[in-house]
Amino acid sequence: MDITGFALVVGGGSGIGRECALAFAEEGASGLIVADLDLPSATKVAAEANALAAAKHPGFRATPFKVDVTSEDSVNRLMACVRATSGRLDYCVNCAGIGVERAAPIAEASLAEFNRFLDVNVSGTFLVTRAASSMMAAQEPIKDSPSPVRGAIVNMGSAASFVSTPQMVQYTASKHAILGLTKNAALDNAALGIRVNCICASWVDTPMVRKAIDQVPDLEELIQSAVPMGRMAHAKEIADSVMFLCSERSSYITGCGLVVDGGTTLTTKGYITDGFPAAGLPRTQRHITGHDTEGKSVFLVTDCGSHHRNMGDNQAVANILYSTKETPIECNGDADIKFAEETEASQTRSISMNCIWSNISSLHSITPMALSSSPLHRAISVDYGVVIEGVFELTLDSGESRIMRPGDVSIQRATSHKWKNVTGNGTMPGRMLWVLLPCNDIVVDGKKVEGFLGHLAKEYERD
Ligand SMILES: NC(=O)c1ccc[n+]([C@@H]2O[C@H](COP(=O)([O-])OP(=O)(O)OC[C@H]3O[C@@H](n4cnc5c(N)ncnc54)[C@H](O)[C@@H]3O)[C@@H](O)[C@H]2O)c1
Repeated sequence: MDITGFALVVGGGSGIGRECALAFAEEGASGLIVADLDLPSATKVAAEANALAAAKHPGFRATPFKVDVTSEDSVNRLMACVRATSGRLDYCVNCAGIGVERAAPIAEASLAEFNRFLDVNVSGTFLVTRAASSMMAAQEPIKDSPSPVRGAIVNMGSAASFVSTPQMVQYTASKHAILGLTKNAALDNAALGIRVNCICASWVDTPMVRKAIDQVPDLEELIQSAVPMGRMAHAKEIADSVMFLCSERSSYITGCGLVVDGGTTLTTKGYITDGFPAAGLPRTQRHITGHDTEGKSVFLVTDCGSHHRNMGDNQAVANILYSTKETPIECNGDADIKFAEETEASQTRSISMNCIWSNISSLHSITPMALSSSPLHRAISVDYGVVIEGVFELTLDSGESRIMRPGDVSIQRATSHKWKNVTGNGTMPGRMLWVLLPCNDIVVDGKKVEGFLGHLAKEYERD
């Protein structure tokens, strides 16, 4: 695709950047610098690019370089290396970026995490775009083109440059900023013959997204249902668009946020699945607890429920989180869990989470407990804990813990646990609803699991 000049790929050690580096080698670039914070990865990709070009473009040479895009000095050293290696820069692709590690709603978002995104994604893109613009502006235009062509810069925006995703303010803000700075750079550079564009992808199969899939239950299915084309992009599909924006085939395109998203942003469906939850509602999670072989309490399940069913002429969606066939509930051998997995509540005389069982129930309003929490305790019962307002941390005696937000439900099967209200970092009140159902004694490894309530015992007393 008339790719003949010298290329720089920043963040070229992985994912989209790696594919761009390989595409430059394949398409016929005269040479390439693969820059990344992770030098071993950049070195590996440069070697792959050299191997790829060896037969087709023997003059091509890829060189690795260690860069930290958050450092002005480091970016300047990178540009000095480009100058020393080739004397000019025709294509600059900036793929260095970070993904969300701590999702949180705006009320609890961390300033440190927000600043990390501004540093890497925004300042990093700014420093690379500025340095590349400066170098390109000073170089001779390509001789045989009708209007001056000095270079092309491609940044990595995202679908998040246009729309937002729940609990990702740091990512959304950084990607909106990348589109904004791309537009301004395009305007400032237009008369010089330097085009600056931005790729706006939604979900691309890269190590960044694989890491998120490993951490977030159901994310892969969620992505499939959120993308009208039904799948993530291959990194090569993004690299193809980058090659287009670098080549003369896009000679009249500048300042554009090219949406490459399989249709993700065409629909208001956003990141919501077809079945559950209904459009406009945040996803909620269920946590089912149990015991390990030593009798410690552990989380068996953290997901969004396994039975979703449209009801009332498709006007409502039921999410059946757990159901039982008898009271007291028989938890031994996880018989109840197997039953709940295999059987929907409507087929039994049992319950869904939307019903409140009549044995014992309690509604508690929790006042701020900034540094304190409930004591570790265990009732021999199956307790449903539903967050109504605020944010709570549920910790088990094994040390495992989960953060629960409004609508999240825990199904605790006689497990030893404690609660902490962490709303507004423990400065604001929250509210939970607990429904307790009787269960049979639980035996683990031949030993009966004992209940203990500590000073909460009086709360459990009945007249
Ligand atoms: N994967 C997706 O679904 C997707 C979607 C839209 C946009 N994007 C954007 O594309 C870009 C690349 O994403 P990816 O999925 O290929 O990620 P990736 O994690 O596979 O690659 C990112 C690369 O950036 C490098 N990097 C991180 N911080 C750096 C720094 N300070 N200096 C230099 N290099 C640094 C990493 O070492 C890594 O090699 C990111 O900006 C990302 O936000 C990705």
